Amino acid sequence: MKIDGNTFIVTGGLGGIGGAVAKALLSRGAKVALFDVLPAQKGSLLAAEYHPTDAIYVNVDIANADSTKSGVQIVVEKLGNLKGVVIINFSSAAAHGLYARTLCYGPSKVAVAGITRSMADFLGPSGIRVNSISPSIVQSNMTAGFSGYFNDDLLAHAAFPRKPVPVEEIVRTVVYLVENAYVNGEDIRVDSAWRLVTARTPGARDPRDLAPGLE
Ligand SMILES: NC(=O)c1ccc[n+]([C@@H]2O[C@H](COP(=O)([O-])OP(=O)(O)OC[C@H]3O[C@@H](n4cnc5c(N)ncnc54)[C@H](O)[C@@H]3O)[C@@H](O)[C@H]2O)c1
Repeated sequence: MKIDGNTFIVTGGLGGIGGAVAKALLSRGAKVALFDVLPAQKGSLLAAEYHPTDAIYVNVDIANADSTKSGVQIVVEKLGNLKGVVIINFSSAAAHGLYARTLCYGPSKVAVAGITRSMADFLGPSGIRVNSISPSIVQSNMTAGFSGYFNDDLLAHAAFPRKPVPVEEIVRTVVYLVENAYVNGEDIRVDSAWRLVTARTPGARDPRDLAPGLE
C-alpha cells in the first residue's frame, strides 16, 4: 500500500511511538488522524505542530467501542474514506519472554499477537492485512520511569545491539509493513534478540522486587 496520498489512523498518536509514526507518515505525504485521550484543544494544538493541514486530532478512547466508531466517522467526514486498510498492532518483546516481572503486561501482549493472527484470517477476504510489531525498549513516556532498569537487563541479556531501539527503527518497520503487500498475519520482533529471564541464582535478589512499576 502506498503511503503518499492515503489516510491513516494512528492510535496513541500523541505518544512516543505513535507520534513518531504519525510524523513519518505525514512526511511521506499521508493524511493522519491522531486518536488519543488528551483533551481536544490540547490535542489539536499538538496535531497542528505535526502538520498544519494534514494532521487532525480526534479525542478517542480506543478501549471504548462507541468512542472508536464515532472517531472513525469523524475521520471519514474530515479526510475522506479509508481506502485500503492496514492494521498494525503493537505487541512487545514481553509477549515472547513471559516472566515474573511482566505478570499482566506480558500476557496482554500475547493477546495482541494472537488477535493479530486471528484478525488477519478474518479480515483477509475484505482486503485488510493485520500485522504486529514487538519492540524491546523504546524511549518514550511509558518507559521513562524504568528504562534504567531495563537498559541493564538489555546489557545482560540482549544478543546485539545491547541498547534501546531508536524509535526510527520502529518507524522503518511500520513503513515496511505498510508497503509490503504480502506480509500478513506476522509479528516482527525488533528486540536485539533480547531474552527476558528470571534469575534463580541462590542469593540473587528476586527480580520481582527490582521491577519498577510495570504492573
Ligand atoms: N516504549 C516501549 O519500549 C515499548 C516496547 C514494547 C511495546 N510497546 C507498546 O507500544 C505502544 C506505544 O507505546 P509508547 O511507548 O509509545 O507509549 P506512550 O505512553 O509514549 O504513548 C501511548 C499513547 O497512547 C495514549 N493512550 C493511552 N490509552 C489510550 C486509549 N484508551 N485510547 C487512546 N489513546 C490512548 C496515551 O495518551 C499516549 O499518548 C504500547 O502499546 C506499548 O505497550 C512499547
